[in-house]
Formats: sequence, structure tokens, C-alpha cells
Amino acid sequence: MRILGIETSCDETAVCIITADGSFGKDFTFNILGNALRSQAALHAEFGGVFPNLAKREHAKNLVPMLQKALEAAGELRPSSEGTAVETPLPLKKILEREPELFADLMPFALRYQKPLIDAIAVTHGPGLEPALWVGVNFAKALSTMWSVPIVAVNHMEGHIVLSMMKEEHLASFEFPVLALLISGGHTELVLSKSFGDYELVGQTRDDAAGEAFDKVARLLGLPYPGGPEVSRLATKARECDEVRPHRISLPRPMLHEDNFDFSFSGLKTAVRRMVDGKKLDNKEKMEIALEFEDAVADVLVSKTLRAVDAYGANTIVVGGGVSANTHIRDRLKAALADEGNVAKLLIPPPELATDNAIMVTLAGYFHALKKEFADPVELRANGSLKLGRKA
Ligand code: KG4
Ligand code: ZN
Repeated sequence: MRILGIETSCDETAVCIITADGSFGKDFTFNILGNALRSQAALHAEFGGVFPNLAKREHAKNLVPMLQKALEAAGELRPSSEGTAVETPLPLKKILEREPELFADLMPFALRYQKPLIDAIAVTHGPGLEPALWVGVNFAKALSTMWSVPIVAVNHMEGHIVLSMMKEEHLASFEFPVLALLISGGHTELVLSKSFGDYELVGQTRDDAAGEAFDKVARLLGLPYPGGPEVSRLATKARECDEVRPHRISLPRPMLHEDNFDFSFSGLKTAVRRMVDGKKLDNKEKMEIALEFEDAVADVLVSKTLRAVDAYGANTIVVGGGVSANTHIRDRLKAALADEGNVAKLLIPPPELATDNAIMVTLAGYFHALKKEFADPVELRANGSLKLGRKA
């Protein structure tokens, strides 16, 4: 089966085409035929975070170019010869009435190119920034109408989980139950999965997400958005610098010893704010804060994850979401599992696939398409606060 996937939940506009075979756990293989991604991070940097209406506008501007790029890479961008041009532009105008720029971009594309060889369109319909999600959802509806292919609505968090389960072009070998640690800009969750499509939320942040805390601390230290990689770079430098004494300063490990699987990161950010308020920090002081902050986040994430693995008898831990690109957190999880002689297998995507992309959406979409779980193109809506629930 060939699936085209679309991701617009935050500040990445991504489109990809994947061909896949087999079912979940049974001879599954896939091949990425074309993959295009444009990040808006630099544009949002001046706001210190993602500005929803700017994200929406940029997605509308980037979707057709990304579609074209992905199709071209897949060898699926074929000019229409006479009689093969896509018909019925009229419903497209209605579907895209809230996205006039996207409509203006899509029309010439629709007339110029043939329908590609695809069987379904997967699109993220939540969670995320609702105005941003809507652009992707409406684009999927337009393409679905244009090409007469069904839509699969994908939960972005399931995308992170599914991608973490892959090893190159196969499913990694692992056993359920799976405990997923999802750490991104909008989410920090522990999710238990006993089979594909079955998810139970066992813990979550009560305030800020881990990535959000990284981004806010970066801002306090005068570092640009997205702050996670910046804080991490500074912390890594600090670990290598003889002049920085680790733990000379100390930050709290919120909820570390509480008997639950929830998290809280806003107090940690406030503690950093108190440390920096009204002071002119030199580079060494900034390095000390970055180091202690990264250690504090890692301590809490690692400890709670291991406790949840024990409590639920998980055989596999998958880690997904942008913060799982963090080298220190990856290393700490690996070390903790090795140390404790824990038998659970750890699956983490390569750092370049940890942050948002269309591959995750397309792979999750494929497994739902196999089960014929298609969305009603009229009813389908973006849902910014979509939850991962039981779907078994
Ligand atoms: O999953 P993602 O790309 O988008 C959301 O769905 O939110 O995650 C983005 C988040 C941002 O907060 C970013 O600062 C954080 O992931 N992030 C990192 C690193 N790379 C990205 N945080 C810590 N260390 C990193 N290396
Ligand atoms: Zn994400």
C-alpha cells in the first residue's frame, strides 16, 4: 500500500510518501519514497515560541511546495497529458474556503499534474495547535476529493510511538506491554500500550511539558527558540569544561518522590527564573544552570519511567517526541536500564526523527488504513486537545 502523509500540528510542515507491506508484527516492511519537511522555527524564534496564526499562514504557504517535493522524490510528479488532468476544482474551493492562499496554490497544481499512485492520505488531526492542524486537515480533504482516495486521521502522539517502534525499514523486535515516554513541546506523558492501537495514559505533566520547560529556560538564559537543543548544547559544553563545577547550584526535582507517574516542570522553570532575575549572568553561570536543569529533567524522567516499567510489567520502553533527541536524556535512560539489570528493551528513534515529521504520521496511518479505519471526509475535524485513548 502507498500512503501519503501530512503533518502540520506545530511548526513543521511535512509531507511524505511511503510504500508499506505486511501488518503490525507480521512481516512489516516499509520504504520512504519521498519525504519533504520545512521547519518554521527560525520565523517563530522572535516570539520565543510558536505563534499559532503565523504557523497556520506558513503551513498554507508551504504545503503545496512540500507536496510537490515529496512527489517528485517519489517519481510521482507526472504532468497531465490531455484528458488526464484532475477534474472538479469546484468542491476544492468550498473545502479550502478558509485557506484561500492554499487554494490559489493548489489549483494550478491540480491542473498540471496527474493523480499519483497512492491508496490513502494520512493526516495529523490532533493534538497540537488547532489553527495549524486545520490547514493540514483541509489540505488532506482537498487532496482526497481531488484524487478520490480515503483519509486516515492520525493522532500525532501515536505517530511518535509508532516511529519509535521502527528499526530501519522494519518493525523492531519487541514485546508488549509497551510503556511509551512521550516528551515534546506540548506533552509529557507515560502511556501504556498492550497492543497496537490500545493506549492508556498512566501519567502526565500537571503543568508545563518537558520541551516547554527547555524552551522557557532557554529564553531565561537568552538563547533562541527552539530552546531544547540550545540548552542541551550549553549543558554538554558545561560537562566538558573543567571550570564548571557540577551541582554548585541546585534545582528541584519536582515530584520525584511522589507515588504516582505524573510530572511537573513549571516549578523548575520558576526556580531558574529566580536564579537569573535581575542578574547579568556570565557564560560560566549560564552553563552551570543549563547543566543542572538538564540533569534535573533527566532525573525525574528516568526515575518515573523506570518505576512505571516496574509497576506495569512493561517489556519495552519507547521514547518519542522532540525532547527524545536530547543526548543526555537518551544516555541516562540507556545507562539506567543497563545499571538495574532491567530486562525491558529500550527503543528510541534516531535524533533526526525524534522531532516532528511526516514519516511518523504516515506509518501510524498505514496500520489504521490496513484495518480500514478511514475518516469521514465531511465529519473530520482538527482537535487541538485530542487524547490517546483505547481504540482496541
Ligand atoms: O515533538 P516536537 O518536535 O514537537 C511537538 O510535538 O511539540 O518537540 C519539540 C520540542 C521543543 O520544545 C524543543 O525545544 C524540544 O522538543 N527539543 C529538545 C531537543 N530537541 C528538540 N529538547 C531538549 N533537547 C533537545 N536536543
Ligand atoms: Zn511531536
